[in-house]
Amino acid sequence: MEMSICKTLLFPLLTIALFISLPQTSRAATNEAYTNFVKTKCNVTTYISLCEKTLIPYASSVKTNSTRLCKAALDVTIKASKNASSTVSTLRKQKGITRIEASIIKDCIEDVKDAVYELKQAVEAMKHLGDKDKAFQLSNAKTYASAVITDADSCTEGFSGREVNPTVKEMINSSMANITKLASNALALINHLY
Ligand SMILES: *[C@@H]1O[C@H](CO)[C@@H](O)[C@H](O)[C@H]1NC(C)=O
Ligand SMILES: *[C@@H]1O[C@H](CO)[C@@H](O)[C@H](O)[C@H]1NC(C)=O
Ligand SMILES: *[C@@H]1O[C@H](CO)[C@@H](O)[C@H](O)[C@H]1NC(C)=O
Ligand SMILES: *[C@@H]1O[C@H](CO)[C@@H](O)[C@H](O)[C@H]1NC(C)=O
Ligand SMILES: *[C@@H]1O[C@H](CO)[C@@H](O)[C@H](O)[C@H]1NC(C)=O
Repeated sequence: MEMSICKTLLFPLLTIALFISLPQTSRAATNEAYTNFVKTKCNVTTYISLCEKTLIPYASSVKTNSTRLCKAALDVTIKASKNASSTVSTLRKQKGITRIEASIIKDCIEDVKDAVYELKQAVEAMKHLGDKDKAFQLSNAKTYASAVITDADSCTEGFSGREVNPTVKEMINSSMANITKLASNALALINHLY
């Protein structure tokens, strides 16, 4: 008698326990699979740990879609570029900035503006990879992503050999280095898309 009560109670309880635990373990497994997808893709980039750090947060929306991963990489670069732009703009308004510094910083802001424009164009091209002119769109995306690197370098080169406050130089340098690395990673992901 007691045994049978135990059995009749235990079975539904076990069933409930299974229903609760199964989706959780499988959800965890799925998330891990998405994270591994990002890690595997990031392996082709030059700055692997930066790639993982910036793109793993997008894993659950990227799932296992390489095109979406490329778009996320471009979005991250846009964010960093906008951030760099505001950092550089703040420097320009600082007290004690010389005319030469102000002029170099102004050019740099233009470079970053161009970079943001190119990144947005690259995102647009990525959206059209399903079109008939797929090869053309892919090639555009690559061209725009590499133009971003050129623009960030052009800002940094504007400072070389010029008399610029070392702190200003260092801050701009590290902001530009960030854009260069993120754009290089995005380009590598686009290059390995197919
Ligand atoms: C990355 O590549 C190396 C060798 O190129 C390989 O040993 C490693 O397992 C790869 N990692 C991932 C996460 O794919
Ligand atoms: C990947 O995502 C893009 C954009 O969201 C979509 O157009 C494309 O069909 C997806 N590819 C696959 C294989 O699901
Ligand atoms: C934005 O720039 C500042 C430096 O001005 C830096 O400390 C911060 O981490 C940057 N954030 C992003 C998301 O790039
Ligand atoms: C700026 O960064 C480059 C590498 O991108 C480095 O060679 C150079 O020394 C840096 N300059 C300053 C002032 O930090
Ligand atoms: C560079 O970008 C990364 C990722 O967006 C951010 O965490 C970091 O703070 C940025 N550094 C600078 C100097 O902008």
